[in-house]
Amino acid sequence: MSDKPLTPDSVPHADGMPLLGLGTYRNDDHEQCVESVRTALEMGYRHVDTASMYGNEQGVGDGIATADVSRDEVFLATKVWKSDLSYEGVLESARGSLDRLGTDYIDLLYVHWPAGEYDPEETLPAFDRLYDRGDIRHVGLSNFEPAHLDRARDVLDAPIFANQVEMHPLLPQSDLRDYAAEHDINMVAYAPIARGRVFDVPTLSEIAESHGVSEAQVALAWLRAKGVAAIPKATSTEHIRDNWESLALSLTEDEIARIDAIDDRERLIDPGFGPASWR
Ligand SMILES: NC(=O)c1ccc[n+]([C@@H]2O[C@H](COP(=O)([O-])OP(=O)(O)OC[C@H]3O[C@@H](n4cnc5c(N)ncnc54)[C@H](OP(=O)(O)O)[C@@H]3O)[C@@H](O)[C@H]2O)c1
Repeated sequence: MSDKPLTPDSVPHADGMPLLGLGTYRNDDHEQCVESVRTALEMGYRHVDTASMYGNEQGVGDGIATADVSRDEVFLATKVWKSDLSYEGVLESARGSLDRLGTDYIDLLYVHWPAGEYDPEETLPAFDRLYDRGDIRHVGLSNFEPAHLDRARDVLDAPIFANQVEMHPLLPQSDLRDYAAEHDINMVAYAPIARGRVFDVPTLSEIAESHGVSEAQVALAWLRAKGVAAIPKATSTEHIRDNWESLALSLTEDEIARIDAIDDRERLIDPGFGPASWR
């Protein structure tokens, strides 16, 4: 652990995206959401992840507006839900997100799932349009498997900035990481602390104990060592701070290898409409 105070500059970036952000799924009580976004930004976080489906974009926008940090210092990501992926549906969803977030641009807009109304030829040209007119700075995809990414690369004019997928020590996503490295796509890990399951993995507990940190911090430091952005969801100041302090933790090569060698596998998020290759 380093004793240097942690600041926004302590967070490594990939193509301008901070590798640690705040997730907000199920943080849908307005006051709570405003408060946790404000707390995180004032602590030093500069990346916030939401989605139209979370029903909290207004809370996220109010949190950014209330914090003592200007909008242009924040990397703000949201997503278009699977029922809104027709050409017009995407444009309308983005308009609604801009309005609720109280901003005139979104740093990263994702296709939330390759499901529902998703049709590459319909959906992706609308993302290109939003990109060309500056409403969004980057195009993101989420829950895409290599076959979906191949198709999207054929259709999109804009570069694919990121693929956001479930990733943690129990789901290390090595194939998708190889694909992303080959095609210059950033990886963003959702459920990076496996919704608390990391606390039950003995290897992570041993490493955590030896550093005097939490298992959550070990999982987040492992993701950072892989060059993957992590967006842990936290509502309490205690959890927001614990995750932030993962920035002070550097794992050794040996510790990273021990985590890589964990062979338990668990996919926590698997709705019926997820990619068929998951089953
Ligand atoms: N693209 C997608 O399809 C997709 C799917 C799922 C999630 N996501 C995104 O990824 C974000 C993170 O994923 P997630 O919310 O599913 O799971 P997660 O971040 O792995 O886990 C969140 C849970 O862990 C708790 N927690 C957070 N930090 C902790 C700490 N340091 N110690 C102990 N407990 C801690 C939180 O509690 P408190 O809330 O009480 O602090 C919450 O119950 C979401 O919020 C969302 O933004 C995207």
